Amino acid sequence: MRVLLIGSGGREHALAWKLAQSPLLTALYAAPGNPGIGEEATLVDLDITDDSAVLAFCRKESIDFVVVGPEAPLVAGLADTLRTGGIAVFGPSAAAAQLEGSKGFTKDICAKYSIPTGAYQRFTSAEPAKAYVRAQGAPIVIKADGLAAGKGVTVAMTLDEALEAVDSCFSGTFGAAGAEVVVEAYLDGEEASFFCLCDGKTALPLASAQDHKRVGDGDTGPNTGGMGAYSPAPVMTAQMVERTMREIIEPTIAGMADSGHPFTGVLFAGLMITTKGPELIEYNVRFGDPECQVMMMRLKSDLLPLLYAAATGTLANVSAEWRDEVALTVVMASKGYPGSYAKNTPIVKLPPADAATKVFHAGTALKDGQLVATGGRVLNVTAMGQTVSAAQKTAYAALDRVEWDNGFCRRDIGWQAVKREKA
Ligand code: AMP
Ligand code: GLY
Repeated sequence: MRVLLIGSGGREHALAWKLAQSPLLTALYAAPGNPGIGEEATLVDLDITDDSAVLAFCRKESIDFVVVGPEAPLVAGLADTLRTGGIAVFGPSAAAAQLEGSKGFTKDICAKYSIPTGAYQRFTSAEPAKAYVRAQGAPIVIKADGLAAGKGVTVAMTLDEALEAVDSCFSGTFGAAGAEVVVEAYLDGEEASFFCLCDGKTALPLASAQDHKRVGDGDTGPNTGGMGAYSPAPVMTAQMVERTMREIIEPTIAGMADSGHPFTGVLFAGLMITTKGPELIEYNVRFGDPECQVMMMRLKSDLLPLLYAAATGTLANVSAEWRDEVALTVVMASKGYPGSYAKNTPIVKLPPADAATKVFHAGTALKDGQLVATGGRVLNVTAMGQTVSAAQKTAYAALDRVEWDNGFCRRDIGWQAVKREKA
């Protein structure tokens, strides 16, 4: 099979690495890719926001299957253009990608199909939103409706903070994404990420993971795209997975089909495990980054037929097998991230890959033959282990061999699970 992978982050490097191991693969291209992805695929200089250019490339290179990594091209309708052009695509239509593209859309689906989530209301102007916030009281959560690169959510512990967040959204801080605001009840519990493949009618549970969103040790400082993750998430017991499938995922898949927008691709449920059970915080319509990196390390099965089955309505015929070990990844970011940071700083040395560790590239580039850091999140140092503590130790030992002066990382990825293991 001739495959084109869309994207350029650590998530896509992990997908490329795993796809490249498939005996069914005859050619792998990636656009735009990065130097790590370039070790697995032929990189193509394509503008991925130009749907017709992507389709023309697919035709020219006889691409059989396109795997879309990030959400933005999906929300913009890339999968629709390719499907209309007769190319099989892993990733939802623009209509189904609203599950990530509009928080209000998802909350309405939850309300219509009785999916457990925080009570909410949608607003298009500040005053009614503030009146609702005052009536509900703090803590309360304020969300820009649209895509805001993970920055559109304020978990307000005080009323003043909540009112300020409402004003900030409507004054244009998040651009068009903040033209509508969702105000949502605060949920208390432990968070987990849960992933399923979907083909429009069937959902195949993949695995769980836990992310570390804050930039600093002890979960302090501003939110980021994710500073590290591990899989599986101990809080997602077999019983919690079963409840999540029955109470959240299956009604969503049935509801989307029922409303004329069947969901295909990977459904990423951000969950809060409360005293009542699993509740939905949000959906994403793509793999998590860096959650994908740890999941690909754990996946025993060939990834390509799984993604192809999701794209072609045949998920009922496949199954996924997982290693029992834990995988853990630590993100190395440019100093200053998630604020501003220097670009093109040299990465002098990476540790060699072995059976238990792998360094995935995110924001890297080659400049005159030198590997340099070009992004905020730059490397994902990933390791396997029998326990979270063991995987953590191996990952940090590999990370300490990276020679990159401008990099930093959290030193406590996996702390919740390590605490549990030591208890
Ligand atoms: P999101 O971008 O929706 O994933 O939100 C970012 C983070 O805000 C989540 O990972 C949670 O930690 C937190 N969050 C979002 N919604 C809620 C909620 N209703 N209650 C508590 N925390 C929330
Ligand atoms: N790591 C969180 C995300 O991919 O949204």
